[in-house]
Amino acid sequence: MYYEIAKEKAKNLIEKGSAVLLAIESSCDETSAAVVKDGRIVLSNVISTQIPVHKKYGGVVPEIASRSHVTALVPVVEEALEKANCTLDDIDAIAVTQGPGLIGALLTAVNYAKGLAFARSIPLVAVHHIQGHICSNLIEFPQLTPPFIALAVSGGHSHILKVSDYCDFTLMGATRDDAAGEAFDKVARVLGLGYPGGVKIDELSKQGNIDAYRFSTHLEKEDNYDFSFSGIKTAVVNLVHNLEQKNQEIPKADIAASFQATVVRMLVDKAIKAAKDVGYKKIVLAGGVAANSRLREEITRMCRQAQIELYYPSPVLCTDNAAMIGSAGFYTLMNGNIADINLNAFATGGLDEFYRK
Ligand code: KG4
Ligand code: ZN
Repeated sequence: MYYEIAKEKAKNLIEKGSAVLLAIESSCDETSAAVVKDGRIVLSNVISTQIPVHKKYGGVVPEIASRSHVTALVPVVEEALEKANCTLDDIDAIAVTQGPGLIGALLTAVNYAKGLAFARSIPLVAVHHIQGHICSNLIEFPQLTPPFIALAVSGGHSHILKVSDYCDFTLMGATRDDAAGEAFDKVARVLGLGYPGGVKIDELSKQGNIDAYRFSTHLEKEDNYDFSFSGIKTAVVNLVHNLEQKNQEIPKADIAASFQATVVRMLVDKAIKAAKDVGYKKIVLAGGVAANSRLREEITRMCRQAQIELYYPSPVLCTDNAAMIGSAGFYTLMNGNIADINLNAFATGGLDEFYRK
């Protein structure tokens, strides 16, 4: 019964081409809720971070993340509605991150969203987290439309996607081992910089020499769009342990700068190659690592040379937030994809498969 009503309402929204979505994100260590109109206009975007809770463990503790989401969800949603100056009566549909991410964390918002959608008899939209990251650019740049190449780099993903339309994704390349953000976080940990590591490496690198160390990257010269970061990470770990054993000082800034420059070179070269090979003239950056200052500088330089337009979101929209889920949810809804009340979360899975299901 619920699904029939929701389908009918979704049909009306698609005909109208307009909808106000309440979006909820809980895939990792931020609880976030947002109200987004027509996929581009953010009426509110409330983010409650758990970083202080996980800091003392040196990384996200999944069980603690789930419990923290449970306590944060209702106040965060209430604040998002209040800031958007609206009530649930003004909400046309609920968007929620279905995956990928920490399964327990995801399930908190998925269940909450199901309850809300059911109680209000409004459509429920399941969103792929990476599509959300890509859509941050649609919020930031109202004139931006597909087709484009997306370089989606976060703590869990490093993907190059051909984005032919709002809900049409082809995976061109991905990491064969660690995600770029994961490598940043692990290197930060071995250098004793703390969590979350990416931003710390970014800052420290500014005082370091990028040519101090050479780290090999075996996929770099291969004719594909894949990445590998675990070799570089291991090289850094070995280097630090060697220096420690010899009681030598660890040149943290030089190591950070050399590591970061290697990772960035790999990301930039492959993204530019993808755009050239496909013949697209636009690249968008997405995900937490898109906040990296060297990545932004280098890809800006390379895109200018190759006459490719470049888009990247402001730092607050690079890391996890619900506004991006509201944007992706709108396009998913307009594509006719709505979820039933038996919706489950998923921990892994690519964006291309998401739309092939
Ligand atoms: O997208 P995100 O918030 O969460 C995931 O979906 O994973 O990305 C978090 C990742 C972390 O690995 C973090 O260290 C990295 O993004 N990150 C950065 C920077 N800011 C965040 N990595 C490099 N440089 C940064 N400035
Ligand atoms: Zn993310």
